[in-house]
Amino acid sequence: LAIEKALGGPLSGMRALVTSGPTHEPIDPVRFIANRSSGKQGHAIAGACARLGADVTLVSGPSVEADPAGVATVHVETARDMLEACIGALPVDVAICAAAVSDWRPETAHGQKLKKDKAATASPADLSLVENPDILATLAARENDRPRLVIGFAAETDDVVAYARAKLTAKGCDWILANDVSPETGTFGGDHNKIHLLTGGAGGEVDIEEWPHASKLDVAARLAERIAQALGAAA
Ligand code: CTP
Repeated sequence: LAIEKALGGPLSGMRALVTSGPTHEPIDPVRFIANRSSGKQGHAIAGACARLGADVTLVSGPSVEADPAGVATVHVETARDMLEACIGALPVDVAICAAAVSDWRPETAHGQKLKKDKAATASPADLSLVENPDILATLAARENDRPRLVIGFAAETDDVVAYARAKLTAKGCDWILANDVSPETGTFGGDHNKIHLLTGGAGGEVDIEEWPHASKLDVAARLAERIAQALGAAA
């Protein structure tokens, strides 16, 4: 890796920020809200960008994936911690938000373990949820240090491209990688991904490219190459 950087890969001199994995939103000291994200795709992207010579910060929620070689990895638990770590990593040339950030968190993270109320009339603990910050939209809306390229994922189970198109506009990002996460595809936790890359937005035409079903490592390598092309062309 050090040799690649020294040789000047197509992303050398560029800074990249990648988010990966799920977030854990505490209910009490022993319970949390989470999701099925493994972190495999985000970690693979961070590694692929580093292999092309980028200076990469990976902000990862709890994941069993190993920290990728040659990448500065910051470990976080909650969406709010993830946002803070991302802001702390700016400025970067490209931000890739692959994390499955929990949309909501419990309004109160109790300091002690919640106990069952043994009374016959008792109802379950009340779980009021509040919305988490949107990290992708926040990075895309930064005034003075917006990354030149802001890339998000759209995890959908149906109408994949239509929803992704709407997400490109709603989040203000430049590219969206739409992936089908229906249970039968085995995407969540699996080693493969089926991607549609949407580029454009901001009032212009949206270009849709269908990528073949591929391993998450191949998707990462292809994305890193595309990023290098885009940043190189804009430099
Ligand atoms: N994302 C984020 N912060 C959030 C929620 C999502 O950065 N609080 C990012 C994800 O990393 C991904 C993109 O936004 O790049 C889309 O996430 P997704 O969960 O598919 O979309 P949502 O905005 O949550 O919309 P919905 O759940 O309605 O599909």
